[in-house]
Amino acid sequence: MDAITLLRNDHRTVEQLFKRFEKTGDDAYVAKREIVDRIIEELSVHAAIEEQLFYPAARATVPGVEDVALESIEEHHIVKWVLSELDGMPPQDERFDAKVTVLIENVRHHVEEEQDEFFPKVRDELGRKALNELGDAMVEAKATAPTHPHPRAPDTPPANAIIGNVTGVVDRISDNISGLAQGTVSATQDLIARLTNSKKPKTSPTGNSVARKRAQSTRAASAEATDTVANTARRAAKATGDTTRAATSGVKSVAKTAASTTRATANTAKSSAKGAAKSTSTTAKQRSQAPKSSVKATATGARKTAQSAAKATTDAAKKVGD
Ligand SMILES: [Fe+2]
Ligand SMILES: [Fe+2]
Repeated sequence: MDAITLLRNDHRTVEQLFKRFEKTGDDAYVAKREIVDRIIEELSVHAAIEEQLFYPAARATVPGVEDVALESIEEHHIVKWVLSELDGMPPQDERFDAKVTVLIENVRHHVEEEQDEFFPKVRDELGRKALNELGDAMVEAKATAPTHPHPRAPDTPPANAIIGNVTGVVDRISDNISGLAQGTVSATQDLIARLTNSKKPKTSPTGNSVARKRAQSTRAASAEATDTVANTARRAAKATGDTTRAATSGVKSVAKTAASTTRATANTAKSSAKGAAKSTSTTAKQRSQAPKSSVKATATGARKTAQSAAKATTDAAKKVGD
């Protein structure tokens, strides 16, 4: 199937849903919910196959569409946010109708740009055969594309090919996630290579020189940032170690001085105590010895006095007897 015909058919389907919504009565909540649910599904699937296949193939093969492709991806991004809000919002909410109206305005503008500016360039460049091959791949991708909006999910290859097809495609391409990633990206690259009759792109479906340079500069910046962080961490660790060592050394020194001072004080105190004790002891001894010697002296003096008195008395008696 022709890729552009497929996309235009989708646009027509969505426009019919928009018109139905615009004709639905304000209080027809069940009908509004049903229409909006179908809009969400149609736009989610449509955006996915454009982002996974049509935009990457166009960017890789058609000159002069890079800006309109990038702008389209951004418009998809905004639409997905509004869709994700509508997905969980009751139609009775006062903002429901206003949100749908803004969504319709955005999508109509986007569709107009795609159909008037983007698609004609792709058709001119690729031709019928390549567009049929691309369209067949998009039909197949529709079967496994997400049916709900995921505004935070990657919207460019290779990540969107990995995330977007996590269900379904896994059974046909590989039996594990790694195989799915490689298989999906490889399948997209093969398709683009066939479309362009050129060598298979080496990096990704959008692997042009600009993307490659960006990837290289990102890797280089990342490596540089990692080195800077590692070096800073090493310097910080060293500084911390040095500071710790200096602090430890200072503390040791202070502690040593303090210990030395304490010892000196202790020695002084000990010496003083010893001296004081000795002095006290001597004084006490002297004090305790003083009364004793005094008594001894007194006793000696009294004995001598008594002896002298006794001798004097004896002498006097002898003189009286003569
Ligand atoms: Fe689109
Ligand atoms: Fe579209």
